[in-house]
Amino acid sequence: MFLSRLHLRNYRNFAEQVLELPAQGAAIVGDNGQGKTNLLEAVYYLEIFRSFRGAPDEQLVRFGEDVFRVEGRLEDDEGRSRSVSAAFDRRGRKKKVAVNSAEPERLGDALGQVGAVIFSPSDVELVSGGPGGRRRFLDIVLSLAEPGYLHALQRYRQTLFQRNTLLRKNSPRAMVELWDAGLVAAGSRVAAARAAWVREHANSFAEHYARVAGGHPGHMTYASSAPELGEAATPADIAAAFAQALAKNADREQRRGMTLVGPHRDDLRFTIGGVDGGALELRTYGSGGQQRTAAIALRMVEAETIHAVRGREPIILLDDVFAELDPGRSQRIVDWIENEDGGGQVILTSPKPTDFELRGQLLPRWGIRDGVVLAG
Ligand SMILES: Nc1ncnc2c1ncn2[C@@H]1O[C@H](COP(=O)(O)OP(=O)(O)OP(=O)(O)O)[C@@H](O)[C@H]1O
Ligand SMILES: [Mg+2]
Repeated sequence: MFLSRLHLRNYRNFAEQVLELPAQGAAIVGDNGQGKTNLLEAVYYLEIFRSFRGAPDEQLVRFGEDVFRVEGRLEDDEGRSRSVSAAFDRRGRKKKVAVNSAEPERLGDALGQVGAVIFSPSDVELVSGGPGGRRRFLDIVLSLAEPGYLHALQRYRQTLFQRNTLLRKNSPRAMVELWDAGLVAAGSRVAAARAAWVREHANSFAEHYARVAGGHPGHMTYASSAPELGEAATPADIAAAFAQALAKNADREQRRGMTLVGPHRDDLRFTIGGVDGGALELRTYGSGGQQRTAAIALRMVEAETIHAVRGREPIILLDDVFAELDPGRSQRIVDWIENEDGGGQVILTSPKPTDFELRGQLLPRWGIRDGVVLAG
């Protein structure tokens, strides 16, 4: 599948824009602040129905307007097509999503229609930033890849909120414990899915890291918020360990007024081998380039996941990713796209007329200025 048509209305700095895209994709070149990231953000909006930059929907509405709308048409080689659209009205804070003009019962049912992965310069924060961004990454990938994950996550968040409210108000322990069974059921589902995904893709991550870096592998591991949880493997073990960890931390929770263990406190760790044979935490000790490389390897693993669950090459969105990489690394990313994503569509942006070859220069180059794409 590829995005054959994109229609934007009042999205960020776009007033009205219709793009007809070829199957291989396009390279969009324009100065800073002209709308390159906005354009890719709009495409990816159709995948997850929110901004990949974490911006609230209100911010996506063009200044001075009330409603934005994004619509995409996806086509496959046999000419089958489907349309995905999303609109947001800031007056009533109402979001409307449709697939082939039909509104899904729940937003979660319509996730992943585009089958895209976005690589962006801000990805480095996945490695260098706080654990919240890494949990958010796992939650998005698993919501796209695993039926039922989003539902479990939502149940977990609701239960956690109730439980934390009681803890904050210093409620009797018996009242807090009423929520434990629900918290354990939903939370162990979330933790088990995340840990399994990390375990299953750890080798692939290590290889991607080594290849892009042109050297030694990097490692990713799931770091649980409680030691009991880290040792558990099966969903049943994880549930039992979670219940045990809650019991063990009950007094501390009462004192601190919040839930201290569970997937809302877990993390994803990235390491490389240190000179002494130990593990070097990339978040703390990695160079900018090493952190960037780990983030790219993580997106490559995400692309493989999307490929596997959708059964076709993902659409690769590259937002100025070569800017801070040395030529060797850039070339090896291009090689990966050519091989792994053989026939997939690539939409890339750059502030410079790019100096690397992608798709044997087949990608048409379009300009962009002040929210207007100058195609052809
Ligand atoms: N809701 C909005 N309405 C109108 N314009 C907006 C809105 N949100 C952002 N913008 C404008 O969009 C522009 C930024 O667009 P974008 O982030 O896509 O730039 P870019 O081309 O990716 O630049 P860079 O090369 O610096 O990354 C800014 O000029 C900003 O003022
Ligand atoms: Mg940008």
